Amino acid sequence: MKQKILLWMVLFITLPAPLAWGWTLVAHPEKKVEGGLEFEPICPQFRKTQQAPEEYLKLKNPLPPSHENIFAGQTLFHFDAKPGPCRVCHGISGNGLGFLFRQLSPSPRNFTCSQTVDPLPDGQLFWIIRNGSPGTAMPAFKNLDEDQIWQLIHYIRHFSRKEQ
Ligand code: HEC
Repeated sequence: MKQKILLWMVLFITLPAPLAWGWTLVAHPEKKVEGGLEFEPICPQFRKTQQAPEEYLKLKNPLPPSHENIFAGQTLFHFDAKPGPCRVCHGISGNGLGFLFRQLSPSPRNFTCSQTVDPLPDGQLFWIIRNGSPGTAMPAFKNLDEDQIWQLIHYIRHFSRKEQ
C-alpha cells in the first residue's frame, strides 16, 4: 500500500513536466524551447549578406525538383555536408534555430520565412553555399559539387513552400 502511494506521488510529480513540454511542441512546432525559454524564428529576417556577382544571379536551378534530388539535398543538409551539416545552424525544421543558434550573430538564415528567402535568386543561394558569407558563421562548402549544391537548394526551398 505504502509503495503504491509512493508510486503515485512520484508519477504526480514527474508526469506534468514532459506533458507540458510535449504540449508546447505540439501546439507550436515552429518554436524552440531551450533552458526554459521560448525562442521564435526571426521573420522577416534582416540580411546584409553580400550579393552574388551578376552572372550568378541569373542562374536557375538546372535540376528538376524530383524526389531523388530533394532526398539527396535532405541528407546533405542533415548529415553529410562538410565542414558541418546545415542543420546544426539552420535547424532541423530550417527555421534558423539549430542547436548553435544562440552562439551566432548574425543569425543563420530562417528558410521557413518566405518573405525573406523566396525573393532570393537560386544563383544567390548557390554562390553563398559555395563561398560562404565572410564575417559570419556561414562556411564555404568548397567540396560539394555543383549538383549537390543545386540539390541542397531544392531542399532548402521546400521549407518556405509547405503546400507543395
Ligand atoms: C556554422 C553554422 C552554419 C552552417 C553549418 C551552415 N550555415 Fe548557412 N548560414 C549561417 C549563417 C550565420 C548565415 C547568415 C549569413 C549572413 O547573414 O550573411 C547563413 C546563411 C545561409 C544562406 C543565406 C544566403 C543569403 O544570401 O541570404 C544560405 C542559402 C545558407 N546559409 C545555406 C546553408 C547550407 C545549404 C548549409 C549546409 C550545406 C549551411 N548553410 C550551413 C550559418 C551556417
